[in-house]
Amino acid sequence: MRIAVVGCGYWGSKHVRVLQALAEVDRVVAVDSRPDRLVALKRAFPSIRTAEKFDDVLGRVDAMVIATPPETHATLGVRALQAGLGVLIEKPLATSTLDARVLVDTAEQYDAVLAVGHTFEYNAAVWKLRDLVDEDELGRIHYLDSARLNLGLYQTDVSVVWDLAPHDISISNYVLRRTPTVVQAWGSRHAHATLEDVAYIRLSYEHPDVTAHIHVSWLDPCKVRRTTVVGSSKMAVYNDLASEERVRVFDKGVVPAEEASMAQMPMSYRYGDIQSPFLSFEEPLTVQDREFVSCVQNGERPATDGVCGLAVVQALEAAELSLRSGRTVYLTDGYGFAAEDQVPELAS
Ligand SMILES: NC(=O)c1ccc[n+]([C@@H]2O[C@H](COP(=O)([O-])OP(=O)(O)OC[C@H]3O[C@@H](n4cnc5c(N)ncnc54)[C@H](O)[C@@H]3O)[C@@H](O)[C@H]2O)c1
Repeated sequence: MRIAVVGCGYWGSKHVRVLQALAEVDRVVAVDSRPDRLVALKRAFPSIRTAEKFDDVLGRVDAMVIATPPETHATLGVRALQAGLGVLIEKPLATSTLDARVLVDTAEQYDAVLAVGHTFEYNAAVWKLRDLVDEDELGRIHYLDSARLNLGLYQTDVSVVWDLAPHDISISNYVLRRTPTVVQAWGSRHAHATLEDVAYIRLSYEHPDVTAHIHVSWLDPCKVRRTTVVGSSKMAVYNDLASEERVRVFDKGVVPAEEASMAQMPMSYRYGDIQSPFLSFEEPLTVQDREFVSCVQNGERPATDGVCGLAVVQALEAAELSLRSGRTVYLTDGYGFAAEDQVPELAS
């Protein structure tokens, strides 16, 4: 198994570290147009090979991880799939629904494995959230709330929506086992002239109705990585920054008081135990990359396949449409859009 990692910056270098340690992988080739990045990686992991150009490795590896900036994902991904390689593309899969669909179609056409880097879907804390929902431990789900805030790393090609919200949309889709049907978003630009650095997204899911609220920001004094699931019986909080007790389940709730009058509190409050389930934790990137390698070797479909990536891109594009137009965007089954009357052109 020979695998290339194209784009060895902040995140691609982590793929190189993980892949070169996997027993199933015989050779890792780090590919980056910046030689300084390759020199540093070769020093840290002497067994890897390096190349400066995508074309240098195309016919020489069995699989490829693409961790270049999002605008380049579709072009590089299609070429790799057409060369018959198994391909894992970092989130977001592409920067438009159209491009994401082309990637999915190309993978089908060439019978190639296509995976997307939705790393949180390989995270034991997120698995636990889904178990709690599946097993009805929280009762009827009222809503999800996610916050991903920090004085963040400004990107050059995508806004905070495309940079950070893929994680929260993929977590919501995974936990609820479905995709949203309605998207609304608000965003603003502060420190950057053209790219939103603060945004709020509201995703509506049907059957049964659940709403997911997402707040993403590159311009916040506090680092927050938190997903809360509020149910009618209990509430669960996943704090990715906690070194212990990443998931806590609060036996707390509010119900209308039975005989409320003007003189009484209208709601009755319940305060119970707080429990933290045991999580057998392995680095999610390792779990994800190991699954990808196994899928390429055995011709299987990854848990986070191209269709999963396409669904997240569709929600991201809808969020961008909504925040630019101030309208609600409805998602149709065929991965299209329909606003109340007419969807306006995207501002260039
Ligand atoms: N899954 C996650 O948790 C996670 C976390 C961070 C970033 N990411 C994703 O990883 C991707 C990369 O993000 P980053 O923060 O590492 O960016 P980065 O800017 O640090 O690195 C990108 C690298 O790609 C190289 N590059 C660009 N075009 C190239 C080409 N055609 N051929 C070879 N090299 C090329 C650049 O020289 C650079 O070294 C993005 O899609 C981002 O959203 C995912």
